[in-house]
Amino acid sequence: MTSQTSVMEATCPPWHLFLDHPLPVRLTGTKYACGTGSCGACTVMVSKHDPMSKKIRHFSITACLVPICSLYGAAVTTVEGVGSIKTKLHPVQERIAKSHGTQCGFCTPGMVMSIYTLLRNHPQPSEDQLMEALGGNLCRCTGYRPILESGRTFCVESNGCQQKGTGKCCLDQGENDSFSHGKSSDISTDLFMKDEFQPLDPTQDLIFPPELLRMAENPEKRTLTFHGERVTWISPGTLKDLLELKVKHPEAPLILGNTSLGPAMKSQGHFHPILLYPARISELSMVSKTSEGLTIGAGCSLAQVKDILAERISELPEEKTQTYRALLKHLKSLAGQQIRNMASLGGHIISRHYNSDMNPILAVGNATLNLISEEGTRQIPLNEHFLAGLASADLKPEEILESVYIPHSQKWEFVSAFRQAQCQQNALADVNAGMRVLLKEGTDTIEDLSIAYGGVGVTTISAHNSCQQLLGRRWNELMLDEACRLLLDEVSIPGSAPGGSVEFKRTLVVSFLFKFYLEVLQELKKLVKLFSDCLHYPEISDLSALEDFPVTVPQGVQRYQSVDSHQPLQDSVGRPIMHVSGLKHATGEAMFCDDIPRVDKELFMALVTSTRAHAKIISIDLSEALELPGVLDVITAKDIPGTNGAEDDKLLPVDEVLCVGQIICAVVAETDVQAKRAIKMIKITYEDLEPVIFTIEDAIKHNSFLCPEKKLEQGNIEEAFEKVDQVVEGEVHVGGQEHFYMETQTVLVIPKTEDKELDIYVSTQDPAHVQKTVSSTLNIPINRITCHVKRVGGGFGGKVGRPAVLGAIAAVGAIKTGHPIRLVLDREDDMLITGGRHPLFGKYKVGFMNNGRIKALDIECFINGGCTLDESEQVIEFLVLRLENAYKIQNLRFRGRACMTNLPSNTAFRGFGFPQGTLITESCITAVAAKCGLLPEKIREKNMYKTVDKTIYKQAFSPEPLIRCWNECLDKTSFHSRRMQVEEFNKKNYWKKKGIAIIPMKFTVGFAATSYHQAAALVHIYTDGSVLVTHGGSELGQGIHTKMLQVASRELKIPMSYMHICETSTATVPNTIATAASIGSDVNGRAVQNACQILLKRLEPIIKKNPEGTWEDWIEAAFEQRISLSATGYFRGYKAFMDWEKGEGDPFPYYVYGAACSEVEIDCLTGAHKKIRADIVMDACCSLNPAIDIGQIEGSFIQGMGLYTTEELKYSPEGVLYSRGPDDYKIPTITDVPVEFNVSLLSSSHTPLTIYSSKGLGESGMFLGSAVFFAIADAVATARRERDIAEHFTVKSPATPEWVRMACADRFTEMIPRDDPKTFKPWSIPIA
Ligand SMILES: Cc1cc2nc3c(=O)[nH]c(=O)nc-3n(C[C@H](O)[C@H](O)[C@H](O)COP(=O)(O)OP(=O)(O)OC[C@H]3O[C@@H](n4cnc5c(N)ncnc54)[C@H](O)[C@@H]3O)c2cc1C
Ligand code: FES
Ligand code: FES
Repeated sequence: MTSQTSVMEATCPPWHLFLDHPLPVRLTGTKYACGTGSCGACTVMVSKHDPMSKKIRHFSITACLVPICSLYGAAVTTVEGVGSIKTKLHPVQERIAKSHGTQCGFCTPGMVMSIYTLLRNHPQPSEDQLMEALGGNLCRCTGYRPILESGRTFCVESNGCQQKGTGKCCLDQGENDSFSHGKSSDISTDLFMKDEFQPLDPTQDLIFPPELLRMAENPEKRTLTFHGERVTWISPGTLKDLLELKVKHPEAPLILGNTSLGPAMKSQGHFHPILLYPARISELSMVSKTSEGLTIGAGCSLAQVKDILAERISELPEEKTQTYRALLKHLKSLAGQQIRNMASLGGHIISRHYNSDMNPILAVGNATLNLISEEGTRQIPLNEHFLAGLASADLKPEEILESVYIPHSQKWEFVSAFRQAQCQQNALADVNAGMRVLLKEGTDTIEDLSIAYGGVGVTTISAHNSCQQLLGRRWNELMLDEACRLLLDEVSIPGSAPGGSVEFKRTLVVSFLFKFYLEVLQELKKLVKLFSDCLHYPEISDLSALEDFPVTVPQGVQRYQSVDSHQPLQDSVGRPIMHVSGLKHATGEAMFCDDIPRVDKELFMALVTSTRAHAKIISIDLSEALELPGVLDVITAKDIPGTNGAEDDKLLPVDEVLCVGQIICAVVAETDVQAKRAIKMIKITYEDLEPVIFTIEDAIKHNSFLCPEKKLEQGNIEEAFEKVDQVVEGEVHVGGQEHFYMETQTVLVIPKTEDKELDIYVSTQDPAHVQKTVSSTLNIPINRITCHVKRVGGGFGGKVGRPAVLGAIAAVGAIKTGHPIRLVLDREDDMLITGGRHPLFGKYKVGFMNNGRIKALDIECFINGGCTLDESEQVIEFLVLRLENAYKIQNLRFRGRACMTNLPSNTAFRGFGFPQGTLITESCITAVAAKCGLLPEKIREKNMYKTVDKTIYKQAFSPEPLIRCWNECLDKTSFHSRRMQVEEFNKKNYWKKKGIAIIPMKFTVGFAATSYHQAAALVHIYTDGSVLVTHGGSELGQGIHTKMLQVASRELKIPMSYMHICETSTATVPNTIATAASIGSDVNGRAVQNACQILLKRLEPIIKKNPEGTWEDWIEAAFEQRISLSATGYFRGYKAFMDWEKGEGDPFPYYVYGAACSEVEIDCLTGAHKKIRADIVMDACCSLNPAIDIGQIEGSFIQGMGLYTTEELKYSPEGVLYSRGPDDYKIPTITDVPVEFNVSLLSSSHTPLTIYSSKGLGESGMFLGSAVFFAIADAVATARRERDIAEHFTVKSPATPEWVRMACADRFTEMIPRDDPKTFKPWSIPIA
């Protein structure tokens, strides 16, 4: 198994998942990020001998769902087996690192394994295959473009930009446009050198272990049984044995892919003492083709089914393959590749998931289930009765599904599949459907009709009665109207239905039917032309409703200014240097906090959280939990020796809880399994308290706020409103956002034996804060506590405050028990407990002249802060300070308040209020444009800052770079001509609309307090000349360590290869500031620079004396001469202050400017959208490292796009967060990247203030993602104009398919039943 070719007998407890299993070799490369098969971080490759083809089959799987016993006879390759820095890198690993496809690196081993598996099967894959292979892997940092780029270097058609050389590529146009100050030779578009890559040599790949091959050639027919503590795993070798076992254990489920059973066992507590694993039974993998249809073994994986169907489609005439085509369409978007490789057809059908993508099609396609038991065989139809689970139509306990028969379709029969999900790939459908009609030959009369829907009930729903009533009807508009009416009646979804989005789902029910109606009409037209001219069909004017958006492989160009040709080669500043941990990320050798090997006597901690939103704790009964094996202790507030947090923000509550998810106590046990089992046994009795507030609206009503209002004002707003031509008022709602860092919160506390010392290994952006909090909690001095941060698997603001709380609770456990404590949050707990971006509700009133000049703007906004203050006061301050964005408006009033609600406390998040707040400002602009009948870009341009000026808080700045970004963005995107093309397209297409938008940005960098702008560094030079650099910033994936080494290398004038950074530690650099606010590299860079300059100054006399000497000579001499080779560098940073009384200040050291343009196409019938293109121009001044900075811009843009389009937090009316994993909360996937995605760094831009004239770019790109939002809103507005509906509508982010569909109101949205909100309890409540 894995790193070397060796065979491991599966002798462990059977129910152990592969990822949980303590392997003989400690392998930590495979990462755990969700545990539900939905993120791909744990991807490994399985190789099995296929007895049918006699070939080795390689396929990727998600290890977190794979029971170890299912791997009997299989070879598993983890990232360690692919290559290593110590031995030899595999080209996949080398290329992903060198193409800058890694930032935090937590997703990277999974990405490597997906591409590696693809290459094992297809050494020269197509780009489509690459997209498919990566569809199940999530990355929260990079925005996917560089990952794809690395994989693309293996592809046949790989040539970078496909437009290059055609005259259409932006590169072909040269760079000497009027806005580009640099000469074309100054601009580079290469971030890595392809020629450096070692070639792929498939002969170097690990062979399939001969022992396993021998096993496969002489297959074991005997039943294999693995006994565990609680579960017995039985793997029969023959069908006969399986059927016997099924009689003996009728209640035992078959287990194949475990993608349905596994999640149910994990999250719903299902338990099966016996599991039957039939994977070795060849009858279940049989495929047989007849002239009537296709029979597929129930044990075939969905990936195999996909191949089988594709082959059959290529062999048969189109009319016979209608059902197969429909199935294939859905199989392409069903889950990710790994799940399709694991999940079986039988498991899929038998699970009868309510949103199954296959069952509706199989049902309408008249599929039959071939069942077998000891009694014999029988067939049952896969119909509505089977789907409803009626006993008379179901499998008997001793029966199994052997295979599925799917008949061919026939002439005059049409089958289609429809599905709408939050994203295109790797997302369960909101609603899906299978539809089939058989028309009487040569006519349009309905002879047979079947329609089935998923997502609208507890299982797939068949609209049998409606279909029956439509038999004999002609396929025309009258039939369509009647069918819609019947369907809405039969497929009724109650207002309180689980999953919510009820009106959207009802609308999709009829919208899909309309699509089907048109598709059939379209096909009929073709047939009629061929077979008869007696039937006449009118021209279809609705063709734009037909096409779905295809998955397209993104392309793009990244431009940046090259370094001066005179810059010494060894000076890496300004060059696209690879992340210093890139190769280690790619090989899995990079150690994250939870990769630290278990230490002696280590215990595991699990947290007990409140199930009530606001309640008094009456009692906590720990007795049953404490009796469980392995459980040592339960930590409560009483155990805290020092300070229990703040008065209104307790670490552990004493008698009152303020939200669901608040940590109440913590179990300490020998293993994580024992600790998690014990938390369920703790009984807490509550007494509910009033009020319970979840929404901003309720908080306003109850006057429930966390801090005083923040207000800025300029000019005379009331007077200005009197004088303007027009006034518009509106509302904006922006939902919250989950950080979704791939590495969940993790801390390991190791108490030492002496002097109460503690070592804390923690994934944090702010180690000093963890240190201070632990110190006050334990009541021991700070100097006894050392916090270590090697690297953080993504932070985005979510690891500024929370790690201190978790570190302190774990430290209490460590001190009380005397044992080291490891606390690693599950994804579910992490999402429940830690809070995220503040949801926002904003009201605006804007006064303007008819020419679009805005004279007055009054914005009042509220953010949902949750139950404690956390960072809410600073967030609302920043939000208000940044509200004006790029606009000079004479009369302004901005007010903001942070609401206190009974939800988990919200906290820092990339952009810190700006992405939410500025959406209000930009929405005002759109509203003004609509009222004036002008284009939004014109209004933006008209109101933008033009000359050196002062902001609303009287800080002076020059908007010159802003205007350059704007103009360059307009120019590079050919904005105006594309605007015209969009309008042309929209005139011709009723059901599809395009939208385009360009957004300017003025983003503030840094903290609004001087004391936060300081940093220190410690640089040691050792006697061999090697240099150890330490500074106060945490490596979060943003490449701070890489940049610091670039700085040190320039200052000491030696190559980066001399340098090393080991970790960030409070023992080497004390009193650090959080790595946040985009300023980390900036201030720490200055500290490193300072330390290096001190050292160089000391070395100067020696260098002068021996100018021809080497670095090593000088260091040796310095040591001989007793010159200290260690120096502390310090940066006493920028002054920043804000006087809120006066509304004046200099709160920010500097600004980052940018502009982004986006074009999208929406499907008005489903709400889906396609991102056609996105372009960003950013003022990075002199980038320290263009590859890293472009990576930050792209990654934050995609994260912003997620905020504004797909990421939706859902809360129950009781304040319970439903969306607690990647299944329910959709961050962008690789298929969400714009088809064309270009980034340019503004050339020849300088700032005297910062290190080497660079700028901090960690956060600013986030807001630019709103260009996608405004492009969608533009398309929606066009649709509404055409439909004569009021163009002005409430802005709601994210612009999910639901929002888009319902905003594009039409006859289908009109015909759905609407419920009186007073008559039902909704499934979820909006909290913004
Ligand atoms: C991350 C993720 C994403 C997903 N996305 C989608 C999606 O987009 N669309 C979609 O439709 N589905 C999706 N699914 C669901 C997936 O399709 C099903 O879980 C899967 O097909 C079940 O197959 P399995 O082999 O894993 O079943 P298992 O979990 O192994 O078994 C499921 C059930 O089927 C029974 N069973 C299995 N085989 C037989 C047999 N031969 N005879 C009798 N009983 C049998 C078992 O006893 C068990 O009760 C997703 C699942 C995951 C984990
Ligand atoms: S950890 Fe396995 S898929 Fe996420
Ligand atoms: S690099 Fe992909 S999640 Fe961080």
